[in-house]
Amino acid sequence: MSKNQNNPGKQDRVEDWAARLDQAAASDNDIQRVHDTLAREKEQPRGGFPVIPIFMIFLMSGLILFGAIYAVHRSDDFDSLGYDETRRRFAWADTGPTEGPPPFVIGERLYAANCAMCHQQNGEGLAGAFPPLNQTEWVTGPEDRLIKILLNGLVGPIEVRGNTYNGVMPGFNNWSNDQIAAVATYIRQAWDNDAEDVTSETVGEVRGVVGGRTSPFTVEDL
Ligand code: HEC
Repeated sequence: MSKNQNNPGKQDRVEDWAARLDQAAASDNDIQRVHDTLAREKEQPRGGFPVIPIFMIFLMSGLILFGAIYAVHRSDDFDSLGYDETRRRFAWADTGPTEGPPPFVIGERLYAANCAMCHQQNGEGLAGAFPPLNQTEWVTGPEDRLIKILLNGLVGPIEVRGNTYNGVMPGFNNWSNDQIAAVATYIRQAWDNDAEDVTSETVGEVRGVVGGRTSPFTVEDL
């Protein structure tokens, strides 16, 4: 038993549709009408932008703005024409340190790293082996004598604060004038000492007098 026999009117309607489709195919007007119908039943396009891309646009704009502000803030006094010392735009840029720590502080570090193992941090030396630097005329006396000892080192008997030492002290002639001046200034003012600064100019002059000598001085040489 077929379905069409169960529903006698359907066969007629199918034929009717087929005939109308034939007609539609034959006429431009009908094609147009069918398409109009289809077009009307399509979902209408919605206005505005989808939600996510709009959010992304705001995010990207925000990042670009942030980046621009950050770059301007952190580029200090640089601009497309290069660095110009005279065109400081930010007041806080002027408050930064313009030079390193004072010679005394540099000298303190140099002393701790290069001298303290022998002369000790407190400048008192080690009895019988390393002479003290606190309250000795070699440290607080004439600058050129002290600079010579620091540049070339010292060998042979020397009397310091009533005791005689006979050891070998290494020279530091590979140090810059600034470094020698800094450590000399430090030991002349550390502990109970209170002598004048030693300038790197003075070190330069003494270096010139010492010339190419590399061997350590003896007390007689000085
Ligand atoms: C390896 C150990 C040693 C080191 C490191 C050393 N010295 Fe000396 N220093 C000596 C000895 C030993 C003497 C005595 C030399 C002698 O007997 O002729 C001496 C003597 C001196 C003297 C002259 C005597 C006095 O006590 O006043 C001065 C100044 C001095 N040293 C400063 C320094 C400074 C500053 C440094 C670091 C930059 C330094 N020394 C590093 C061992 C050392």
